[in-house]
Parts: sequence; C-alpha cells; structure tokens
Amino acid sequence: MAHPNNPPPFEEWTPDLIRQQVEALKGMPGAMLPILHAVQDRFGYIPEAAVPIIAESLRQTRAEVHGIISFYHHFRTHPTGTHVVHVCRAEACQAMGGRQLEAHIKARLGIDYHQTSRDNEFTVEPVYCLGNCACAPSIRVGDAIHGRMTADKFDRLADQLTTTTLELK
Ligand code: FES
Repeated sequence: MAHPNNPPPFEEWTPDLIRQQVEALKGMPGAMLPILHAVQDRFGYIPEAAVPIIAESLRQTRAEVHGIISFYHHFRTHPTGTHVVHVCRAEACQAMGGRQLEAHIKARLGIDYHQTSRDNEFTVEPVYCLGNCACAPSIRVGDAIHGRMTADKFDRLADQLTTTTLELK
C-alpha cells in the first residue's frame, strides 16, 4: 500500500520508451527542453542512457545534452528519494521564518536543494508559493501541504515518514 505522502510512482524507463518519447517531440522548435522535461516527468529523472538517444536524434553532441541538463537545476540525473520535500521560498513564507526553516531541513537531511539523502528517503526541492501563504511557512511532502511548519514539526514529520516507510516494507 502506498503511503499517502508518497509521490505517484514513475514509469520504469527502457531505451525503447525513451526513444518513443524523444520521437514524439523531436519535431518541435527547440525540442531539447521539452524532451528533457517529458523524460523527467515520465520517469522521474533523466537516466544517463537517455543522453545518447537525445543527442543522436537532435543531431547534437552528448556534451551539449549534458550541458543543458547541468545548467538547469530542475533536471535530475538520479531517481528521487521516497519522499520529495518541496520547501516554499516565496515571500510570505520567507517573512515567516522560511529561510531558517529551509536551513534546518537541509541540515537535518544532510543535503542541499536538488539532492537526495544517502538513505534515499528524501529529496529536497525549492518551490515558489504553494498557495498556502496564510499558513506560512509551508512545505509540501508528496501531495500533502503542511503549513505553519517549524523545525520541530519537520523533525517529527521526517521521523514519522521514515518509520511508516519501514513498517510498510
Ligand atoms: S509564499 Fe509560501 S505558500 Fe505562498
């Protein structure tokens, strides 16, 4: 049974599925970015095996594809952790201690934005307004938005999420 805070599962990639995805979009003007977005949205990240497929089909070098992937922090080259924590960095949340909260979350999980914890439990991503400004500071874990977040509340939530995951295994 999936935990309610887990993100929806991504499809398992295969070279054929990646090729299919690339073929579907390669005719677009500036196809590289739409293709990279589509691959990440579908499979959760951009596997290394996608790079030569994309390069070949767009007649670019692998280095050019790698360059684009590393330029945009949005793109991931590894799968996300079990829980994706989106931390709001927009104004209302910053005004309510968002910066300290984000520092705490990064320290607690031992990672920076766009990274995944060593135990593969958490990935942290920035987000700019979760539409929950009245209850700032806010974070989203999977599909669940948590308002009035504090360092203590986050620690409890993180403990609870890792405990629940262990119990379900
Ligand atoms: S500013 Fe953070 S939820 Fe709107």
